Amino acid sequence: MNIINLVLTLTIIGSTAGTNESEHRFPDDFILGAATSAYQIEGAWNVSNRGESIWDRMIHYKPQKIADRSNGDIADNSYYQYKEDIELIQQIGANAYRISLSWPRILPNGFNNSVNREGIQYYNNVIDEMLEKNITPFVTIYHWDLPQKLQDLGGWENPEISNWFVDYARVVFSEFGDRVKHWITINEPNIFCIFGYHSTDAPGLDKSGRGDYTCGHNALLTHAKTYKMYQDEFKNQQGKLGFVLSFSWVVPQNPDDPEEVAGAKLSWQFWYSWFLHPIFSNEGDYPREMKERIANYSSIQGFSRSRLPQFTENEITLVKNSADYLGFNFYTARYETKLTDYDINNVSFQHDIGMIPIDKAFTKDRCTPWAMSKAMRHINKEFIIPEFYITENGYWDVGGLNDVNRAEYYLLHLTEVTKLLNEGLNIRGYFAWSLLDNFEWSYGYTQKFGIISVNFMDPKRARTPKLSSKLITQIYKSKIVPLSFSTTINITTI
Ligand SMILES: *[C@@H]1O[C@H](CO)[C@@H](O)[C@H](O)[C@H]1NC(C)=O
Ligand SMILES: *[C@@H]1O[C@H](CO)[C@@H](O)[C@H](O)[C@H]1NC(C)=O
Ligand SMILES: *[C@@H]1O[C@H](CO)[C@@H](O)[C@H](O)[C@H]1NC(C)=O
Ligand SMILES: *[C@@H]1O[C@H](CO)[C@@H](O)[C@H](O)[C@H]1NC(C)=O
Ligand SMILES: *[C@@H]1O[C@H](CO)[C@@H](O)[C@H](O)[C@H]1NC(C)=O
Ligand SMILES: *[C@@H]1O[C@H](CO)[C@@H](O)[C@H](O)[C@H]1NC(C)=O
Repeated sequence: MNIINLVLTLTIIGSTAGTNESEHRFPDDFILGAATSAYQIEGAWNVSNRGESIWDRMIHYKPQKIADRSNGDIADNSYYQYKEDIELIQQIGANAYRISLSWPRILPNGFNNSVNREGIQYYNNVIDEMLEKNITPFVTIYHWDLPQKLQDLGGWENPEISNWFVDYARVVFSEFGDRVKHWITINEPNIFCIFGYHSTDAPGLDKSGRGDYTCGHNALLTHAKTYKMYQDEFKNQQGKLGFVLSFSWVVPQNPDDPEEVAGAKLSWQFWYSWFLHPIFSNEGDYPREMKERIANYSSIQGFSRSRLPQFTENEITLVKNSADYLGFNFYTARYETKLTDYDINNVSFQHDIGMIPIDKAFTKDRCTPWAMSKAMRHINKEFIIPEFYITENGYWDVGGLNDVNRAEYYLLHLTEVTKLLNEGLNIRGYFAWSLLDNFEWSYGYTQKFGIISVNFMDPKRARTPKLSSKLITQIYKSKIVPLSFSTTINITTI
């Protein structure tokens, strides 16, 4: 048996558009980091008095909802290995780390009548470790892991959630706000409200066209009430509160079909303006076209009122301008086509739009930096955005250390970010998703997003940097995106 060890030099060519490297530079104070979330990395789901979350419940009772029937019981074991994670953040030259807090680890029942000191201690340790290493913490208060006890009371469909959340946020600001100055209230309500009520994600309910709109409505009010509470009670902490949505650019499958072109525009409104318009427009409230369409369909379907809840005038005012920044998450372009089985009596989010994403969106080349720019320019033009942070950007594959496609993805997307900065967009920071391979929700461990690989067969969850992390390190340390990137890779074959 012959073992052949090949050492290859690999060059990844960046954007061909710009040829002047000094235009591919980030300002000195630009935030360059990586992101994770509590349930996806922490593990330790049943230790130190942590309460049960909706993801624990769904996965333990219906493992078939997860591609590989896996769960986040241990995940990356970061509850015990957080120091190693922060060490890696430092090694890649990042100046910030985006994490999330687990609501049931801090308030096991969801309510503030019983605060779990062990949970508070854990996040104090994480935050202090970051500050010791000069890493700025960006902290998401809610990243999908609702306490099950609150789901038992209706979760995001119960308007009381805004009071429960404000009580939780008050605990969080009191405990950590002396050191944390960059907050995100809620991560991607346009994803968890749609997929949580379309059976894929927790709570795994089947209420599309109703539960999703109620969830979104309560999420907007919850965010706005939390923003107001922070201004009223914690202004002296001088922090900033943002709101994070998942974005894309919707591309019609048949660009020659005017109906489909219009459908793609409508789809963008439903997926993104649904949440942007109430917070970041002059008028506030939901986009007019969305309100009219859902009201019309609801009436045809025999509902006595629109399935999209209504804001009062006071609520419109409360929600408007309730964010210091927009967190922009981006992965890939969305290709969509007209629903073929269109049925006016089918009550669902997808039927309200009349368009459906096509599989091509997920199998085709997923590296579409142009789609990121189109979405950002559009938002910048249509809305009033005080500051942008790109709070997630990443590429999935099935694993391996020589992640050439991911490296190319980051080279092209970071080049694009410098272009947008040169155009004058007020982007303040960028976070790669993700620091580590981790538990990717309904995809389990089948999709890997990390720039650092994690061995999930190893009880110690050994972490090994991938090729893409070398590129990220070079960019983060120099604050310049190179025109091309060369590195050596070792290939061992037998
Ligand atoms: C590169 O861009 C910088 C900044 O815009 C400019 O000062 C410099 O003259 C450019 N160099 C070349 C060779 O075009
Ligand atoms: C915690 O969960 C693990 C599975 O992830 C299980 O092996 C262990 O027995 C549980 N511990 C307790 C105290 O319930
Ligand atoms: C819990 O919330 C109530 C109502 O907002 C507040 O009065 C109380 O101080 C809170 N308790 C804690 C521990 O934050
Ligand atoms: C309501 O929807 C139906 C079915 O798509 C359409 O024919 C009608 O023009 C719509 N009415 C209004 C007022 O938009
Ligand atoms: C409604 O439409 C959705 C999306 O196209 C589809 O999955 C579902 O089966 C339809 N439901 C009914 C009752 O036709
Ligand atoms: C690649 O192989 C060379 C020589 O065989 C070795 O020095 C180097 O450490 C290896 N690099 C990696 C990333 O394994």
